[in-house]
Amino acid sequence: MSTRRRFLQSTLVGAAAAYTGKLRAAGRSSSDQIVLGLIGPGGMGMNHVRELCKRTDVTIAAVCDVDSQRAGAAAEEVAKSRPKPRIESDLRKVLDDPEIDAVFIATPDHWHAPASILALDAGKHVYVEKPCCHNIREGRLMADAVERSGKLLQVGTQSRSGDFIQEAIQRIHEGEIGEVIVAKAWNSQRRGSIGRTQPSDPPSNLDFDTWVGPAPLVPYRTNLLHGVWRWWYDFGCGDIGNDGVHDIDVALWGLNVKSHPERMTCLGGRYVVEDDQQFPDTQYAVCEYPNGDQNRKRQMIFEQRDWSPYTQEGYENGSAWYGTKGLLVMGHVTGWKMFRERNELVAERTGSLSLEPHHTNFFDGIRGTSSKLNADIQAGLLAAGVVHFANIAARQRAVLEINAAAEQITNHVEANAMIRRKYRDSHWAVPKNV
Ligand SMILES: NC(=O)c1ccc[n+]([C@@H]2O[C@H](COP(=O)([O-])OP(=O)(O)OC[C@H]3O[C@@H](n4cnc5c(N)ncnc54)[C@H](O)[C@@H]3O)[C@@H](O)[C@H]2O)c1
Repeated sequence: MSTRRRFLQSTLVGAAAAYTGKLRAAGRSSSDQIVLGLIGPGGMGMNHVRELCKRTDVTIAAVCDVDSQRAGAAAEEVAKSRPKPRIESDLRKVLDDPEIDAVFIATPDHWHAPASILALDAGKHVYVEKPCCHNIREGRLMADAVERSGKLLQVGTQSRSGDFIQEAIQRIHEGEIGEVIVAKAWNSQRRGSIGRTQPSDPPSNLDFDTWVGPAPLVPYRTNLLHGVWRWWYDFGCGDIGNDGVHDIDVALWGLNVKSHPERMTCLGGRYVVEDDQQFPDTQYAVCEYPNGDQNRKRQMIFEQRDWSPYTQEGYENGSAWYGTKGLLVMGHVTGWKMFRERNELVAERTGSLSLEPHHTNFFDGIRGTSSKLNADIQAGLLAAGVVHFANIAARQRAVLEINAAAEQITNHVEANAMIRRKYRDSHWAVPKNV
């Protein structure tokens, strides 16, 4: 047994026999430390670092960032509470370490699928930030890699592990607001401008070439990173894929959606803020889903106004479910209210979200003490699917007919071409068969 493995104080219950058997066969017991590598400890990645450092059941062996200042800061943060991890700038060195059981991937979106696929194929469990993929095709290849590797992949949509959200979804699924026909998700907040810039030299602490990775090489500019890459087509998915995807994910969960929409459209653009951002500041999507064997369809609607100095229906980011007997309105970081006929308030709950239960659910899955990941790749793909189809529809100004099983847009050749991205020739991280 590795010297890094220590006995856990906590009692672990509810073993999922099959998976535990697999772990034991691999020489791991539920009392072992889980050894982690953290890839991309930037804004969100440092939230993970701080949360993980509160735990006694994980060892942080390596931190990896293409920005040496960020990697150094993450290592120092870890060193406040435990041995300083080794610092890497090439994620392949983390994946090559046989001691590492699992990686957290909190890079920009364009690296999510390439890094996850490499990690799964290297035998690591993966916790990857949302949206799980930068485009439809890469999402499918991630799901294939999960299947092929037998490893676990948890998507960083931590709402799925929030107890107050779980209660609301259970009430909806148990029919407390009747049959839910429509769900809505929204992102209403005021975002700043990223201005306009010209290409310039990257700072010496940044390996910009590796930051771009398998995406087409573009010149560095100061309003491309950090953080603001999410507003550029090559690297992010816009705010619908940033804050919006949390609420879309919860909305789809309540609506009990099991596939991509069969028809959808989206209008949007930069209606207010004029700067270098490529994605819409104003965006409205409507998706139509099949409803099992029944003829009645279901809808999921998404609204985004990134220039709003006020909340919508009481919540900056939220989801609502419209049932035949009532309505449930939720702020995914604050709470929810349930109303029945004539807007009678019949239940409400406040709450807050933390990363801890979502991390715990991932680690319980690895140890085999939980049989279900709260945000598995299937959930991740459906929420990311709305994001990608909506962005495609907005750019093409089209109503998309979708073959959900084949993940193809059947009525629009140019739109269908956008389920894939362009890559840098022969880059080591370009997924195979993409
Ligand atoms: N779950 C949540 O609530 C939540 C909140 C915020 C952000 N996020 C997600 O977290 C991810 C990161 O967002 P952010 O705002 O922290 O971005 P960021 O730009 O601040 O951080 C990304 C980090 O990844 C590093 N990086 C890039 N390529 C790398 C590579 N190949 N190897 C190692 N490091 C690499 C960058 O240098 C940077 O330090 C995004 O996917 C975002 O959607 C999730």
